[in-house]
Amino acid sequence: MAKLNINGQHRDVDVSDDTPLLWVLRDVLGLTGTKFGCGIAQCGACTVHVDGKAVRSCLLPVGAIDNRAVTTIEAVGATPAGARVQKAWLDLEVVQCGYCQSGQIMSASALLAMTPHPDDSDIDAAMAGNICRCGTYVRIRAAIKKAAGAQSA
Ligand code: FES
Ligand code: FES
Repeated sequence: MAKLNINGQHRDVDVSDDTPLLWVLRDVLGLTGTKFGCGIAQCGACTVHVDGKAVRSCLLPVGAIDNRAVTTIEAVGATPAGARVQKAWLDLEVVQCGYCQSGQIMSASALLAMTPHPDDSDIDAAMAGNICRCGTYVRIRAAIKKAAGAQSA
């Protein structure tokens, strides 16, 4: 049994401690906004926040989370940075197929929460692990800058 704090709610889930968080989110709790891509921490589709930091949920065992707060794409819009990022994403029509985008938004939101006015190297460092097969990288960068209040690139 794992005791988790997901989007501000305490959830008891009947899984073994080595179950990856992504499986619990999607298959046990029905939070399917977080996506499965590679399963080996290489694509970023499964990104969530743990105590505000962007982490890959596909390789994170629930037993390693303890009482730290998990935030998923379903709730990130309730955070100041997440709300700004989601608005910028809509304003600039970032999304193409959409599959990677919840992970992109989670990484971008964690970046802006820590670094309100990131420069290009900050954005590169924060977003490097999030792959987009549709190649929306230019719009993602512009949306992060818009969310930060800077001129779009
Ligand atoms: S599914 Fe977790 S990084 Fe790809
Ligand atoms: S929008 Fe299609 S993979 Fe990123």
